[in-house]
Amino acid sequence: MKLNKNYLRLEESYLFSTVAHKVSAFAAEHPDRKILRMGIGDVTLPLAPAVISAMHAAVTEMGDKSTFRGYGPEQGYDFLRESIRAYYGRRGVSLDADEIFISDGAKSDLGNILDIFDTDNTVLVPDPVYPVYVDTNVMAGRKILFSDANASNAFLPMPDEKVEADIIYLCSPNNPTGAAYSVEQLKAWVEYARKRGAVILYDAAYECFVTEKGLARSIFEVEGAKECAIEFCSFSKTAGFTGTRCGYTVVPKALQSEGISCNKLWLRRQTTKFNGVPYIVQRGAAAVFTEEGEKQIAENLSVYRRNAKRISDCLDSLNIWYTGGKNSPYVWFRCPGYDDSWQFFDKLLEGAGIVGTPGCGFGKNGQGYFRLTAFASEETTQEAMERLKEFLG
Ligand code: MLT
Repeated sequence: MKLNKNYLRLEESYLFSTVAHKVSAFAAEHPDRKILRMGIGDVTLPLAPAVISAMHAAVTEMGDKSTFRGYGPEQGYDFLRESIRAYYGRRGVSLDADEIFISDGAKSDLGNILDIFDTDNTVLVPDPVYPVYVDTNVMAGRKILFSDANASNAFLPMPDEKVEADIIYLCSPNNPTGAAYSVEQLKAWVEYARKRGAVILYDAAYECFVTEKGLARSIFEVEGAKECAIEFCSFSKTAGFTGTRCGYTVVPKALQSEGISCNKLWLRRQTTKFNGVPYIVQRGAAAVFTEEGEKQIAENLSVYRRNAKRISDCLDSLNIWYTGGKNSPYVWFRCPGYDDSWQFFDKLLEGAGIVGTPGCGFGKNGQGYFRLTAFASEETTQEAMERLKEFLG
């Protein structure tokens, strides 16, 4: 047998695993130190009561012969697809339920979607970038180009007509930089993709953090996007499903290449390789869109928003340049006094007991930058910002 040697071209370990190893080693050496974790973007608030009671009811159904369910539809139950369709509808985006595919999260689908595209396509990703976009394409042996995101474009790169890309990744609000595209800016990307016959893989996992008018929550707010884009979204950050696992991918029927429908290919792929998200989880996810669920989730999101403000206020007071924090749970800042992000990571951990994510782990343009998340508890975030002020002040 022959192994896929493309794997040998990957970094030895996934960014967040490397961070976790370093933190475990530090904790083992300093058992008396209190470590404040603001590295991986993992939520800390529990699932909303409306979600929990919907899941309990579903568990009861599964234990009763008359309501028990076996295999579900691979692409998701109608009740959840309809709820998502209505959620988009309330934001002025009209979709058909069969354009929505339920998955176990955006990360899986962002990787899996590549199954329907030839390995011959050239991929364009921003730098810095969520490592999954790069690694999954390295695994497949695709050619990858990078578009520079940096302080001069506020970490929001725009299309360059000279670049010949077929698959374009955009994430807004962005992980890791927290920068968010306006609908106007996305129009330029849609125009570029349509001109080239390219596809945009649009990661909208953080859309629920957008509050500012004019910023996009979905690429489908742009006219013509259904002919060139696939959108990935998740209940992880919206409703605390990082451990529960549920997301959705929108593959518009208007998206075609050489007369072949992407929606059809994706349905074929999913029905073959995926057996759907558990019924109990899908019932919980549908409760997110009930009146009660929406209210409870908004309360949780406001906690994370307050945390993001605590971080940005702290950086303002220290006069440190940053992006994000306003329409995003991530704050991305220039490491003060350090050119190397890993060096700053070590110093911050040793000196203040704070864990963040080194910007260079997201690409070369992340060197000298650092990411903090707003997903920790309010107490942790408050304490971390006091320590940060003392450490850098
Ligand atoms: C992150 O910290 O970037 C996220 O947790 C990654 C993810 O959602 O997979």
